[in-house]
Amino acid sequence: MSEIETLSAQAMADIAAAASPDALETLRVGLLGKQGSITAQLKRLGTLPAEQRKVEGEAINRARDAIGQALAERKQVLEDAALDARLAGEAVDVTLAGRNDGRGGLHPITRTLERMTEIFARLGYELADGPEIEDDWHNFEALNFPPHHPARAMHDTFYFGDGRLLRTHTSGVQVRYMAEHAPPLRMIAAGKVYRSDSDQTHSPMFHQVEGLLVDEHSTFADLKGTLVEFVRAFFERDFEMRFRPSYFPFVEPGAEVDIAWQQPDGSTRWLEVLGCGMVHPNVLKASGIDPERYTGFAFGMGVERLAMLRYGVGDLRAFFDNDVRFLRQFA
Ligand code: DAH
Repeated sequence: MSEIETLSAQAMADIAAAASPDALETLRVGLLGKQGSITAQLKRLGTLPAEQRKVEGEAINRARDAIGQALAERKQVLEDAALDARLAGEAVDVTLAGRNDGRGGLHPITRTLERMTEIFARLGYELADGPEIEDDWHNFEALNFPPHHPARAMHDTFYFGDGRLLRTHTSGVQVRYMAEHAPPLRMIAAGKVYRSDSDQTHSPMFHQVEGLLVDEHSTFADLKGTLVEFVRAFFERDFEMRFRPSYFPFVEPGAEVDIAWQQPDGSTRWLEVLGCGMVHPNVLKASGIDPERYTGFAFGMGVERLAMLRYGVGDLRAFFDNDVRFLRQFA
């Protein structure tokens, strides 16, 4: 093989193997550039005799043209491949599922509150509201807790020191509602209450639902019927229930209600779920209602307690940790 043929065969192999436009450019300079090996062959022609110059000249020119064309073709191939790779990388798969919009859900306590007020709304109770920063009159005094009454000590109250306090129960809403509405009346109040208390079943902030009915002939039997109906509707189950005498200054007689709760092992246990009673005449009087003409009943219950029972939650604090793994179960 002549020198030019050897050179040309090697050049073709190198061009075919070039993996990038840069490598290809280096090859081009090495072959066809000013100092290139093909260029050197052309320069050498001048030293040859005329006959030989013509023959070799043609061979070198052919080789140079062929190499030039191979370089151009290889360049096109590499550029096309680079473009394809870029397009593939930028491609959008329009068949992919959309991104999750991360929508939240109602908190289990909110759900429970709504469920409770809805049941009472069906029984004709109007939703009422009161302030969480309350005064002594509405939280205690008008509810028949005189200033140094021992029952106040049961409430572990947060005081502001200026006569105001964080309400310890929703019962004060009774007083506010009666001051503004004449009997017959039926109201339900729901919201946050505060006590300086914290453990597995107590939180410094929790929720209560309060109910009040005042009419001319309301009786304890009406109260009982109402609460039995509520418990049945709330748990969607029938329970054996027990009204156990208890003391709250603002009712007389007063009771706590227990339900017979089925334990995982099949046995039943009495669980207290709410407090209730006939509105004390002093409370009616303090709210401007004539206790000679009207009677009423009231009840109050802890929302977290009912939510724990309904959903089988063992630790009250789970409701306030806001761990999404817990909350998602209710979404
Ligand atoms: N306020 C009471 C408490 O927080 C609950 C309660 C008991 C409310 C009896 C009532 C009632 O309306 O009649 O412990």
